[in-house]
Amino acid sequence: MKKIGQEFINGTKYPNISNSDESKEIAPPARTREPQARETFDLPEVEKLDLPEVPIPQALVSRRSRRSFQDKPLDSSELASLLFYTQGIKRKLPGGKSLRTVPSAGARHALETYLYLHRAAELPRGLYHYRAEKHKLALLQEGNLMAKVYRGTLEQKFVQQAAAVFFWAADIYRMAWRYSERAYRYIMLDAGHVCQNLYLTGEVIQAGVCAIAAFDDDYLNDFLELDGREQFVIYAAALGSRKKKKN
Ligand SMILES: Cc1cc2nc3c(=O)[nH]c(=O)nc-3n(C[C@H](O)[C@H](O)[C@H](O)COP(=O)(O)O)c2cc1C
Repeated sequence: MKKIGQEFINGTKYPNISNSDESKEIAPPARTREPQARETFDLPEVEKLDLPEVPIPQALVSRRSRRSFQDKPLDSSELASLLFYTQGIKRKLPGGKSLRTVPSAGARHALETYLYLHRAAELPRGLYHYRAEKHKLALLQEGNLMAKVYRGTLEQKFVQQAAAVFFWAADIYRMAWRYSERAYRYIMLDAGHVCQNLYLTGEVIQAGVCAIAAFDDDYLNDFLELDGREQFVIYAAALGSRKKKKN
């Protein structure tokens, strides 16, 4: 096995990292990125949704990875819940800082959510970006893009049945501005929290979720129009309406 893993852990120990741009008083980067969109769609406010109340201990025990989905499309309330509970902004603080439904190192929140919607009741099929600040979905590419999503996720069969596939992309300088090389550790930890919230929201709306980290990085970055250096996909998940029988 190559030493890159050990080198990464060693090179990102506090005594070994560079001084951050923050410590050099370099201005911080923008708090969000908004790729150019063809159209944006409002999402319902989650406080107004009539979601079933699922106790946290129950959701934790019933959560599992599900890889078999019904054809049923996702409605806007389900989409709003999934997006808000994974990356939604709960509170804006002075200086542009925000608190979200997930923790994040230094509240840097350096992830952007991309969503391929294959089956949605009220929205056209296509690739979207979640505008967390506005709680809206922005359409980036319209059409049936499942063949690309399937290829990018290494042709894992269950992905083809998904109603939606989430991609979380790092905007690494947003984190590295404060933590320099150590940012690469923190961004992965942040992504784990986000995907767990997707699983738990799936327990509330009865959606099946399966995390995906086996993917073709370069192919997915090209698909999402990310440069692969400043911005790159680090985690994904497929989701669909749950089948009644055990799957
Ligand atoms: C970081 C990570 C990456 C994963 N990647 C994949 C994947 O690419 N394909 C897949 O089918 N499952 C993937 N999984 C799901 C795991 O296989 C699953 O969580 C594990 O088997 C335990 O099952 P459970 O989630 O039902 O408890 C991933 C899970 C994690 C946490």
